[in-house]
Formats: sequence, structure tokens, C-alpha cells
Amino acid sequence: MARMTTGRVPLIAGNWKLNLDHLQAIAFVQKLAWSLKDARLDFDEVEVAVFPPYTDLRSVQTLIAADKLPLKFGAQNLSEHDSGAYTGEISGAFLKALDCDFVLVGHSERRMLNGEGDDDVAAKTAAAIRHGLVPVICVGESAEDLEKHGQSAVPVAQLKAALAGITGAVDIVVAYEPVWAIGSGQAATPEQAEQVAGQLRQVIADAVGQDTADSTRILYGGSVKSGNIAGFMRQPNVDGALVGGASLDIAEFSKIIRFQNHVGV
Ligand code: PGA
Repeated sequence: MARMTTGRVPLIAGNWKLNLDHLQAIAFVQKLAWSLKDARLDFDEVEVAVFPPYTDLRSVQTLIAADKLPLKFGAQNLSEHDSGAYTGEISGAFLKALDCDFVLVGHSERRMLNGEGDDDVAAKTAAAIRHGLVPVICVGESAEDLEKHGQSAVPVAQLKAALAGITGAVDIVVAYEPVWAIGSGQAATPEQAEQVAGQLRQVIADAVGQDTADSTRILYGGSVKSGNIAGFMRQPNVDGALVGGASLDIAEFSKIIRFQNHVGV
């Protein structure tokens, strides 16, 4: 069931980054599903997705299908190309063939460590959509950007660039992740997240229309824990979380997913 005020079903997503091989992934996903079932989570109230490394995806797909687990999954990256002489790349077509629902695009670690710029992010966003995957478009300002330009200028510009080639209604998720908050233990305040999320929703409205803006989930990411998820989920423009470190701890991730129990949203 979607939240009454917004009509958007919250999404809690776990970005595993470079952690857990395929055997560990199978054990982890099984335990996570048991933990959520034990806690009687209503999967109509919240969507749960994991983002394992590429080499785990086939195992995760097989487990979820065989045991009919109510979990979604996606990849952490994709190529902007569909096929061809691109050694080491993975096509969105391959991810779709593995039943991936989502794919992360433009995570700040890929922008910083792999030199992905706004053009690459736009091309990957288009590739994801072309293959029927929902891109989770990650945007966010660094500590330096925050000091120089304030909080929203960079994420707003990054999202505008990512959506530049897109016209008409589209199924996307946006993750606002301040770079200074990722892995630092220092999350943004719920008010900061809401302020930027509101502006990002306006960018979507201007770029592709009000309907898509109204239906798009905007997540907050950066040092999300069970102790701070409540504040974010109370914000009208924040529809979930992209969780890194805490998504690797089953008990903690399960508590984050069950935010409705402890926050009364
Ligand atoms: P974190 O990472 O939760 O460990 O801060 C979030 C992310 O990078 O998506």
C-alpha cells in the first residue's frame, strides 16, 4: 500500500558495493528474507531491494525465483552500450535477462573513482530505460561543493544533466546522497534531505512532467541507520533510503526496512 499522502510506496535499497561473493550473497538474502518474514513485514507497505556485485546476480535471481522471496534486486552499474567491443562492460540487456528490476547510475564512488561525468550518467540512464530497467540516479554534493555552492546546486545540476535526453513519462528513482555523508557516520539532517529532495522533484517536473515527478521515489542516502531512518521517512519528499554500510548487517538493515514499526509514519 502506498503512503496515503503521496501515493508512493517507500523503497529501502541496500547497496552492497564491493562486498559479499555469490555464496555469501545466497546466505545473506535467505537470512534477510527470513528475518523480515519473522518480523511479519508487510511487503505491500515497503519495497526492499538489494544491489549485489555483478557476479552475485545470477545466484540472487535464482534464489529469489525459487523461494518466491518478495525482494527486488539490481546491479550497481551498467554500460551505456548494448553490445560490441567494450571489454569488461555489462549491458543493460544482460541485466534485464537476469530479471534485475533496478540499476544504480552515477553513484558518487563511480563519479570519483571511475571518472564518470554527467554525460556518462545521462547515457547510462538512457541505456537503463531502453532495456526496461529502473535507473536509480544518484546525485549529491561534496563537502567542497557544499561550502562553495550550497547544498542543492550540484545535485540539481546533476539530475538535470541525467534527464537531459529523456522525454515523456518514465519510471526512475532518484537517490540524493551528499558525498560528505556517505560512509562518514555523519548523515544529513532530515530537514536538509527534504529541502534538496523537494528541489529534485521540481527538476523532474520541469524535465519530464508533473506526473513523473509525483510518482518518482526520491531516496536519501548517506550514513542511514536504524537510529536515524525515522526522521527521513517523516519528510514528505523522502520516499526511502539507499543504504550502504548498514545494509550489510542483517539485523540493522531489517530494522531500517521496518521503519514503520518504530516511527509511526
Ligand atoms: P553509507 O553509503 O550508507 O555507507 O553511507 C551509502 C551509499 O553509498 O549508497
